[in-house]
This record gives sequence, C-alpha cells and structure tokens, in this order.
Amino acid sequence: MSLRNFILGLSASFGFAWLFVVIVPFIKMRNLEPITLSKDADGATGIFYPKRSGRIVNGAKVYAENGCYLCHTQVVRPTYAGNDLYRPDWGGLAKDPERGDTRRETNAYDFEGETFAQIGSTRMGPDLSNLTRRLEAAVAAKGSGDPAAMLYAHLYDPRHNPELRKSTCPSYRYLFDRREIKGQPSADALPFGGDMATELVPSSDAKALVSYLLAMKKDQPAPAALNFAPIDPKAAGR
Ligand code: HEC
Repeated sequence: MSLRNFILGLSASFGFAWLFVVIVPFIKMRNLEPITLSKDADGATGIFYPKRSGRIVNGAKVYAENGCYLCHTQVVRPTYAGNDLYRPDWGGLAKDPERGDTRRETNAYDFEGETFAQIGSTRMGPDLSNLTRRLEAAVAAKGSGDPAAMLYAHLYDPRHNPELRKSTCPSYRYLFDRREIKGQPSADALPFGGDMATELVPSSDAKALVSYLLAMKKDQPAPAALNFAPIDPKAAGR
C-alpha cells in the first residue's frame, strides 16, 4: 500500500465517523424548532417547546466542574438501544398519582438552556433525568420532606441516611460554608453538622447546582413525532 492510499484510507475512516457522529447531529440539533402538536397524534394542541426553570447555566457548570457526569447519566435511552424505560422511575413515574404512566425517552429538547448536553460517561450511580420526580414522589409517599433539603444533605454527606451508608457518591463538603448563627438559623441550613453557635449553609455554587438538579424532571408528554417508542401497554404493567 502506498503512503498516499494509506493516508486517504485513514482520513476516510475517521472522516466518515466524524461526519455522521459529530457534524450531522450538530447541524440537526443546533437550532431546535418548536414542534406543533396535533390533536389526533398527541391528544393536545399548541406547541411543544419545554423550557426548564432554575439556574440551569450556572448549575450545569458546577455539575461539570465536579465531574458528576462521570458517574451519572442524563439520558433515558430509546428502547431499541437499552431497556431504560423499564427501570424504576428513570424515564418518569410509572404510576404518577395524577397522570398515570409518564415515562418517556430523552430527546434533544431536554437539554434546552444548556450549552453542553451532559449525557454522562458511565453509570456508577442512577440516571438523573427524572431525579426530582423521584424525590417528589418520595416526599409525597412519606408526607414530609423537601427535595431541595434532601439534595443539600446528599451533597454534603451521601451517607447521612442510614439506608445509604454504603453509598459511593462522593461528598462535596466544600460546597458548604460554616457560618456563625446570628439571630434566627438560616432556612436552608443542614439539619446536621451544626452546633450551638454555627451552622452549615450551602454556598452559591451549591445553590446553583441544586437549582439545576431540581429542574431534572423531564416527564412532560412528548409529541408522537419525537416519542418514537411509545410504551407498549402490555409491557407497561411490568
Ligand atoms: C464516583 C461516582 C459518583 C460521582 C462522581 C457522583 N456520584 Fe452521585 N451517586 C453515585 C452513586 C453510586 C449513587 C447511588 C447511591 C446513593 O444514592 O447515594 C449516587 C447517588 C446520587 C444521588 C441520588 C440519586 C437518587 O436517585 O436518589 C444524587 C442526587 C447524586 N448522586 C448527585 C450527584 C451529584 C450532583 C454529583 C456531582 C456533584 C455526583 N452525584 C457525583 C456515584 C457518584
């Protein structure tokens, strides 16, 4: 083989992969157009353009800086590529008390507001796409609690809950400050770790991160055009 053919072959092998895995998806997903819903297919009218609330941009930065994506994914794969939809409450709640089955796959609109889609690299911990739906369901089942407070406690010490004492989620204590209590204790101080004179309060980075995590509930019904594998009613009972 001549050097020329070798170089050409090499460029073609990498070039095609780069074109179809990077460039084509980039062009397709760069400017997402709102989707018009149709009454027949979607059972609703109007447009589908989910906007997430919260400090998405700052929170996504803190999430990236701390390497959360190394262990947590944010993608519920389509069923042809994995069985994520059937994992308990990953794609949404299987038994939402108000809306029934809200599970669906991830689509490009779910990363609206972020400059980089942090789909994650490994799954040492659970997928976080619908983290807040799970927390809200746990609060509703228990009748008390607050998702934000649960997240602060988890970030400071993932092993504070006796049931999770073997959790391998790292603790991010540097996201909290110890502060002297002056007058009333702070509303978002941690329920542990304080003493008579001081309390642990989330820093602005922790607040941005928790705001980002609280926006992780992507279970609004997706239009049929996007939801290419709607749940099979027979399998949904499983
Ligand atoms: C070394 C891998 C690793 C890293 C890095 C990591 N986690 Fe975790 N995380 C886990 C594991 C394992 C669990 C499951 C055990 C548990 O619930 O504590 C978990 C659980 C969680 C949960 C509870 C999920 C649920 O569904 O109840 C949250 C929230 C969470 N992690 C947030 C984060 C955030 C935010 C970061 C970055 C600041 C992060 N994790 C970084 C491994 C990791």
